[in-house]
Amino acid sequence: MKKLVLAMATALLVLGSCSTQGNETQQEAAATNNIDKGQAAIENIMTRTSIRQYTDQPVEQEKIDIMLKAAMAAPTALNLQPWHFIVIDDKPTLELLSGRQPSNAPLMIAVCGDTNKTTMPDGKSKLPDFWVQDVSAAIENLLLAAHAQGLGAVWTGVYPAMERTAEVANILNCPNNIVPVAVVRIGYPGESPEPKDKFKEENISYNKFGGKKQ
Ligand SMILES: Cc1cc2nc3c(=O)[nH]c(=O)nc-3n(C[C@H](O)[C@H](O)[C@H](O)COP(=O)(O)O)c2cc1C
Repeated sequence: MKKLVLAMATALLVLGSCSTQGNETQQEAAATNNIDKGQAAIENIMTRTSIRQYTDQPVEQEKIDIMLKAAMAAPTALNLQPWHFIVIDDKPTLELLSGRQPSNAPLMIAVCGDTNKTTMPDGKSKLPDFWVQDVSAAIENLLLAAHAQGLGAVWTGVYPAMERTAEVANILNCPNNIVPVAVVRIGYPGESPEPKDKFKEENISYNKFGGKKQ
């Protein structure tokens, strides 16, 4: 009987240590996976570059949905999410939007601010001037999601160039509260420019303007 109990205890210990080892291995694998994901995210940021020529291949709806989800995952002041996205894939509107910068992009997304959404529902907290930053954060997320999915994209500026803002708003039938900030042109890349290296030490200060790294 003693022998049986001893054997069972040993078996339990061995099983326990196996499962602990299994957990550790799983934890190590999860940590490595997180590091890999982090590196992939940084790599995606560093390799994005503006793409202005596209193939004829249309962009799949699933990829559009992911770009829109990424855009709306951006941070916003007071979490107001003061934006609206207009997805354009019909040729006449694409041509109208191209304006003075002709484009063969099969898809454009106009990223707009919604000035009706710059006040908290309680009506007390108002942030009338932050919406441009919120929308800009969404545009960058959208560009990164395009790049991560093998698409090419370029941000074309609209607001605050008032003439262009009125022109784009008119083409897209926007009511007064919907202000187009950018039209992002998107498609499968028809060119492969090298990403630019824009890192400059001179653009960085530590602790005070002009302060050096210790
Ligand atoms: C606010 C803003 C407006 C821009 N407007 C245009 C534009 O009208 N046409 C264009 O071709 N690129 C436009 N760009 C893209 C820039 O030219 C491009 O981001 C810049 O040259 C850096 O190149 P990169 O995107 O390849 O890093 C704009 C970018 C920003 C942020």
